[in-house]
Amino acid sequence: MTVVVTMPMIGTAQAWRDAARGLINANIPPCDVSWGDETAPAGLWDSPPPPCTGKVLTVPKEFLSIARSVVWHSDPARFSLLYQVLWRLRDTPGLLQDRADPELARLRQLQKNVHRCQHKMKAFVRFREIGSPDDPRRSFAAWFEPSHFTVEPTAPWFARRFGDMDWRIITPSVTASFIDGELRYAEGQSKPPLPEDASEQLWTTYFRNIFNPARVKVKAMQSEMPKKYWKNMPEAAAIPDLIASAPARVRAMNDAAPTLPPLRVEKVQQQLAQLPESVWSGNADALRAEISACTRCPLHCHATQAVHGEGPMDAALMIVGEQPGDTEDLAGRPFVGPAGKLLDQLCAETEVDRSKAYITNAVKHFKFKPRGKRRIHQQPSTTEVEQCKWWLDAERAAVQPRVILAMGASAALSLTGNGKDMRNRRGRVHQLDDGTPVVLTFHPSYLLRLQDPDAREAATDLLRTDLTRAHQLAQNLAVRITPDGGGAPVRAAPQ
Ligand code: URA
Repeated sequence: MTVVVTMPMIGTAQAWRDAARGLINANIPPCDVSWGDETAPAGLWDSPPPPCTGKVLTVPKEFLSIARSVVWHSDPARFSLLYQVLWRLRDTPGLLQDRADPELARLRQLQKNVHRCQHKMKAFVRFREIGSPDDPRRSFAAWFEPSHFTVEPTAPWFARRFGDMDWRIITPSVTASFIDGELRYAEGQSKPPLPEDASEQLWTTYFRNIFNPARVKVKAMQSEMPKKYWKNMPEAAAIPDLIASAPARVRAMNDAAPTLPPLRVEKVQQQLAQLPESVWSGNADALRAEISACTRCPLHCHATQAVHGEGPMDAALMIVGEQPGDTEDLAGRPFVGPAGKLLDQLCAETEVDRSKAYITNAVKHFKFKPRGKRRIHQQPSTTEVEQCKWWLDAERAAVQPRVILAMGASAALSLTGNGKDMRNRRGRVHQLDDGTPVVLTFHPSYLLRLQDPDAREAATDLLRTDLTRAHQLAQNLAVRITPDGGGAPVRAAPQ
């Protein structure tokens, strides 16, 4: 007999978990279960299951985390695929380690799609004010069309961010509303007639002004801000015209270029002449060779090798960490150990192409304390960071990035002269003397050290936001820089 289980649109994660647990306990194989996802009461059993065997299955945390995301995917086969893998986990507890398993590979792909969709939602939801000036709390609404059912798992993020206002995010499948501090979900609806926001015109004007016709990269723009989101973003209406008129505007800019040097040239040249000696003027290979041979401080005595930066020498984005860890020290490459894996994951989720960024560290040698056979990471001292700044300055001079992402206190110390108070300073954009913006953020290792899953998730969200912001600044997309470092790209949120 086939058991038909219908999943609700709201509370799907818990409903799937309850239903799957019941089915497993009742020993019902995947081939006897038919899953549906119509709007219906949670976990409706269309045909009664056989009696429960009472057996309790323990599953790896990783599977739970995959399931928590995959249930929100729009693929109708997601529930049965999850149940199929859960069923197999009974007899093969090590199944998740099998990287070649096609069902697991599919689940991981679905999980990635959901993460990406959540990220897009955080970036592209545009609120419009709907309340009246007399209301005690300001009130906003946004219409959004996500590719997957990501309203419910993403709404808590909006609640954390915009906790001091009432808002609704309306989508075709589910509506999330946050009223008087309470988050609720209801059925979705069709697009409501939302009023034009008074700040919309201002925003479009701002977008037009920061748009640089000489640096148009249509592909990069579209992969960052896919066209399907444009219709709900006020500033996007200006994009086709801006792209179409870019060549003519560049020609006009060239024609209008002054024939006499601008007044500032003399001043800038004087400043250039005074730049400290450490500014690198040799080629990239020579720079790497010099870094590898560095003996500027005693750290070189114990480390296996110096680890110089890696990436294109014309990268628009430079990412700076602290110092190589144990794995990096042995491999001679930055960010290839656990922190590097997390960085890779965050890059994938935010669609930042790591291979296009120049990745380096504030300190080029691994500082550690031996403990038995292990080498325990030690934070570099202020003096060591300052000694090594010579190399970071040289890398900056060679690469000339448009934006730098400083991850952690040592990177912040080297680049801004202050490595303190990162919890408050993260998200801020510091400007270097040459005008390069430095986005300050957490170090991935800090996230790995956080024990509390909620704290870790919140910090990961912030690092993702800062990575996106730095990337978008580098891509010359519109990013509003707010002094508090809040950070959805383009237009963060109602204020
Ligand atoms: N942590 C860093 O700061 N840099 C690395 O390269 C690896 C870990």
